[in-house]
Amino acid sequence: MEQSKQVYAVTDRLVIRQFGLQDTEAFYRYRANPTVARFQSWENYTYEDAESFVGEQIHHTPDQPGTWFQFAIALADSDRLIGDCALHTRLDEPRIVEIGFTLAPEHQGKGYIHEALGAILHYIFRILGKHKATAFTDVRNEKSIRVLERMGMRREGHLLQNYMSKGKWVDEYQYAVLQSEWSSQKRAAPF
Ligand SMILES: CC(C)(COP(=O)(O)OP(=O)(O)OC[C@H]1O[C@@H](n2cnc3c(N)ncnc32)[C@H](O)[C@@H]1OP(=O)(O)O)[C@@H](O)C(=O)NCCC(=O)NCCS
Repeated sequence: MEQSKQVYAVTDRLVIRQFGLQDTEAFYRYRANPTVARFQSWENYTYEDAESFVGEQIHHTPDQPGTWFQFAIALADSDRLIGDCALHTRLDEPRIVEIGFTLAPEHQGKGYIHEALGAILHYIFRILGKHKATAFTDVRNEKSIRVLERMGMRREGHLLQNYMSKGKWVDEYQYAVLQSEWSSQKRAAPF
């Protein structure tokens, strides 16, 4: 029987919720896609990797200092998994979090991550009361850069050879938005 999953936010088209075991196949399919993995740390992602990841995530709750929590992004009408957003709460400074995000290729180009991140940043600042949200992206990842800038995040730094990806050191941009900046941006409520 399917477990009941905690829902963190609902938008016009999406549900941001806890992962469930039935998400494993969809999660595996996009993680194993080389286009999706191009600017990410993983490579040759296996079904066993996905089973183990989802199996752990279903027991996690967001905002535990020193840990990553993965929000499942699902279509509101079918509850089908289309992507995810990771939330890292820093151990040394839990008022600052880091986010990362992925969409299955067939669901890109429709504004879903923009919609999901609007709701997740609302959750981060309004529900969790965080001070600052950061994100790191490979400088070659143009789609990710567009998303971050569209969300009103500022480029705070260009970090040289900051990340080992597929056997090579890569440069990253650090993006961030403060709670005060988020609050002053004129935006419609995400849900
Ligand atoms: C990064 C990633 C999530 C971006 O996906 P995306 O589909 O480009 O992002 P969005 O869902 O916000 O969609 C934006 C695009 O949809 C278009 N769009 C279509 N309908 C839209 C709508 N209703 N609302 C907003 N945008 C819409 C936008 O014009 C935009 O296209 P553009 O980037 O060509 O200008 C995706 O490329 C990905 O998963 N990459 C692999 C993982 C990765 O590298 N993650 C980043 C790690 S930090």
